Amino acid sequence: MTADRARRRKVMFANWKLNGCAESIETWIKTMAPLAEEGVLDIVLMPPALWMERARTGLERYPSRLALGAQNVAAWEQGAYTGEISARMMADAGACYALVGHSERRLLFGETDEMVSRKMACCWTAGLSPVLCIGETGFERETGETERVLKRQLGAVEGWVRPPPGKALWIAYEPVWSIGTGQAAGPDLVAAVLAGIHSHWAGLNATIHSQPRLLYGGSVSLANAASLIALEAVDGLLVGGASVNPESCADLCRAMIRALD
Ligand code: 13P
Repeated sequence: MTADRARRRKVMFANWKLNGCAESIETWIKTMAPLAEEGVLDIVLMPPALWMERARTGLERYPSRLALGAQNVAAWEQGAYTGEISARMMADAGACYALVGHSERRLLFGETDEMVSRKMACCWTAGLSPVLCIGETGFERETGETERVLKRQLGAVEGWVRPPPGKALWIAYEPVWSIGTGQAAGPDLVAAVLAGIHSHWAGLNATIHSQPRLLYGGSVSLANAASLIALEAVDGLLVGGASVNPESCADLCRAMIRALD
């Protein structure tokens, strides 16, 4: 391994979705913090919004390179939007990142490309790094639509990519057919799609200064985490179901750290 490669830390994002319990937050942080501190892996916990403050308290007890992220933010900064939580509120509660455009939000909650763009803008204003999720359905893949769909999802946010100094856009390739199905995309497919995203971005206009950091998500497990995190094109993994239990998530992180060492 070269010295350059040794310095390249990667990231594991733990998206708990609507899972877990408040009591397990501290155990999770206590178990995971040493792995984030000592290894070549940064770790970002994305708990249900109500537990963000509790997670922040946990981080104060176990300081490390572990950070917090929001699973969702409102598409508005403030106003009469009952039940919503703004990017600013998430930042105040301790979040550094926020998912925008997760396929579950798009498919189950009718989130449009326009809303995704607005959420991204709210993230920049609040000082959060947005993690834009894109991905095709199984039908779109079977009918040869993958590239068109991904370009549409990327194109929708192009005008809204304005990272302030020190912040980056993160893009997570999460094929819908792989989420929660046990059917992860293989390393060759992930490498090819991320290369496509990279070259698409490189061709954009000069107002978009920095290259995004690229993630893969969808049925990441102990069986595939090492081969996926080791890919040159991958800056990190976005893990759902396998991230909730602290012991199995720690095993997953150890497998990633071994693959990066
Ligand atoms: P799973 O890891 O449960 O497939 O979920 C992936 C995901 O949607 C992460 O955001």
